[in-house]
Amino acid sequence: MEIEKDNELMEKIVSLAKRRGFVFQGSEIYGGLAGTWDYGPLGAELSHNIKDLWWDFFVRKHEENYGLASSVLMPEPVWEASGHLEGFADPMVECEKCKRRFRADHLEEVTEDSSKCPECGGAFGEEKAFSQLFPVEMGSVEGSKVNAYLRGEIAQGMFVNFKNVLDTMRPKLPFGIAQIGKAFRNEIAPREFLFRVREFDLMEFEYFTREEEWEEHFEKWRKEMWEWIDLVGITRDSTHELEVSEKDRAHYSKRTIDFEFDYPFGRKELYGLAYRTDHDLKKHMEHSKVDLRYTDDEGERFIPHVIEPSFGLGRTVLAVLVSAYREDEIGGEKRVYLAFKPSVAPIKAAVFPLMKNKPELQTKAREVYKDLKKAIPQIMFDDNGNVGKRYRRQDEIGTPFCITIDFDTLEDDTVTVRNRDTAEQERIQISELEPYIKEQIETKK
Ligand code: GAP
Repeated sequence: MEIEKDNELMEKIVSLAKRRGFVFQGSEIYGGLAGTWDYGPLGAELSHNIKDLWWDFFVRKHEENYGLASSVLMPEPVWEASGHLEGFADPMVECEKCKRRFRADHLEEVTEDSSKCPECGGAFGEEKAFSQLFPVEMGSVEGSKVNAYLRGEIAQGMFVNFKNVLDTMRPKLPFGIAQIGKAFRNEIAPREFLFRVREFDLMEFEYFTREEEWEEHFEKWRKEMWEWIDLVGITRDSTHELEVSEKDRAHYSKRTIDFEFDYPFGRKELYGLAYRTDHDLKKHMEHSKVDLRYTDDEGERFIPHVIEPSFGLGRTVLAVLVSAYREDEIGGEKRVYLAFKPSVAPIKAAVFPLMKNKPELQTKAREVYKDLKKAIPQIMFDDNGNVGKRYRRQDEIGTPFCITIDFDTLEDDTVTVRNRDTAEQERIQISELEPYIKEQIETKK
């Protein structure tokens, strides 16, 4: 379905993300490297929060799910066995005049006449398959042969370690192996900010099951993916399931549901849920000659089937930013704020002295800040400009609470806590701050 594009909103989000230290262009001082983005101080906190929430929700809360952190570099035979060397390619066309390259299957999105180059109007050459795998020459001898690849998906780390996990943890079916880590894809046309990039973090797990139970587990994880969408603060009404047709499914999948999100540039993929059958383990067993079968309590040996929920971190960050972005008016003044859930917000609370140049307020504010930071590390101290300006600055980075130390504090140990979303203020005992903020983080999960 086509949704209305909102270029202005996208520009506002990209500009806020840069201005406030969430996301910078990769290698910016050298003109930027296409398809790479770097998380700044606030983006790094935000993405750590998302990864921690994901790991808690999908790994630690499920006793049958095991974590993994495997290597980015994997040898060629892995990709030959998995089918990526042959099947992980996009159709590409190159303009004969300006030599720019485009994804043949995306041309309709960027131009009205898909037979001509959208940049210079030149004619296209023949369509070719363009591999998304990044080759690496391992060993330093010049001109040595490609013998490894940066992983195109982190899933292969789970499959090549399947036997190691079986042997060390002795899990019973069904069970999962999960990891969070970098994946690399040589995208022909990286674009739309964090949406299509060449280096990105993936959060995913392979859930191993008996073949006859795959549908039951597919449904179970489908539901949990929706719970995750609520948990992380992605607008449910802007998220939609799409049953992927056979021709559009990856080479390993017998059923895929995409979770699509209404980004300002259109409705596009956010997450994927795939039934990978026994494709990968079977192929690795054939190619490596290592027995990758599971033995059940009755002594039957077989290759388990796999359900795979897959989540791109960058697309999560983008969908969370879009879902949280708000503009309103307070006291006749316009403001922009990010309505992050407290659990996701990069800064949970900011502590201010009411006035910068009053040493007794500074000392007390520093003391409150230090004590609170011991218990809740994502706390900021701010004494720049007047309190109104500090509120605006914190609103813009999505800080849920601002704590002001004033002259009454010196008398009765109470502070003002101002709520980001309602702009309402309440008076709280200093000793109550830690449980108050922690409770808000927990209950608003
Ligand atoms: N192991 C399965 C797999 O990798 P995928 O649909 O190719 O499946 C999984 O990718 C997720 O990774 C996507 O749902 C999306 O969130 C994210 N993703 C894929 N390509 C991406 C890219 N070029 N830039 C940013 N995120 C990407």
